[in-house]
Amino acid sequence: MNINRVACVGAGLIGQGWATLFSSKGLDVVLQDVSEKILEKATRGVRSNLMFLETNALIEPGGAEAALKRIKLSLSIGEAVSYADYVQESVPDDYDFKKKVFREMDVNAPHHAILASSSSGLLMTEIQKVTANPQRCVLVHPVLPVYLIPLVEVVGGEQTSLETATIACDFLKKLGKTPALLKREVSGYIVNRLQAALLREAIDLVDKGVANAEDIDRAFCMGIGLRDPIIGPFLRIHLAGGGVEEFIKNYSQSYHHRWKTMETWTSIPSSAAKKIVRGVKEMEVVRKKSLEEIQQWRDQMLVKLMKVIREQ
Ligand SMILES: NC(=O)c1ccc[n+]([C@@H]2O[C@H](COP(=O)([O-])OP(=O)(O)OC[C@H]3O[C@@H](n4cnc5c(N)ncnc54)[C@H](O)[C@@H]3O)[C@@H](O)[C@H]2O)c1
Repeated sequence: MNINRVACVGAGLIGQGWATLFSSKGLDVVLQDVSEKILEKATRGVRSNLMFLETNALIEPGGAEAALKRIKLSLSIGEAVSYADYVQESVPDDYDFKKKVFREMDVNAPHHAILASSSSGLLMTEIQKVTANPQRCVLVHPVLPVYLIPLVEVVGGEQTSLETATIACDFLKKLGKTPALLKREVSGYIVNRLQAALLREAIDLVDKGVANAEDIDRAFCMGIGLRDPIIGPFLRIHLAGGGVEEFIKNYSQSYHHRWKTMETWTSIPSSAAKKIVRGVKEMEVVRKKSLEEIQQWRDQMLVKLMKVIREQ
């Protein structure tokens, strides 16, 4: 199936990221949200993203202005999706929001169009229940920043057809993304489950006074984070133990002690919330730079890192 026209429903951080990616790859985009003011802000965000790509030679000179011209704005979901081959929804992560929007997208999009959700953890099985064509609905979860990080998780619900998931993966590959099609639906998919496990432990270390937020970020970035762009957790244990069987034999007991002493809470304790808010605000980079400046610095570093990885 040829996908030339896309609609982005919801123009917040993620909607802007998708509009940046799609328009920079030559697709016609309709970007939709609920007010003129939000759409004006979103246009500024997309322009800034596109200029970043152009400045870093990730799109050709003049590519940012050309891409912006391919983006139309709309205040109506019905209008935005009416000619789309592919719709990417990015409204708040709440079943009520998603269901209302998916119902409207399904009524108004052409019959062949794929309807994708950016949700970070909700299940498509639940969202697609409100549509008349659930087979064409699929989760396509990006990783921030959408226009730089290659991975996208593709997760079907119980009624999603294999054809829909396959078309979505093929489309994403053509855009230069690396789709990971999950075999089974689970809340948070792969990326956010791994992040959730790490985050709970990081928060607990602050709460228990083992280290402050800045020290933990430093330990991550200068330690496991530096190595993790190259190898994942399984290749790590294979290398760490002189082979995965040796690792399981030699390290199971020490991991048992770690896991036994780890927290299992499912909501951030209020004592911990206060400490991490204070800890983040005390970080040197947070005191010295605005959110936008930190984001730009992160993206500059990412571009350099990805260049090195691509060259290998
Ligand atoms: N922020 C992240 O790190 C991240 C990463 C991956 C996926 N996601 C997922 O992407 C989705 C969007 O997240 P975000 O961070 O962009 O949120 P956001 O709050 O920045 O943007 C949501 C946008 O949806 C709009 N909206 C609300 N109701 C709408 C409606 N009825 N029609 C059209 N637009 C409507 C809002 O006005 C807002 O502009 C969520 O499902 C989130 O879980 C977020």
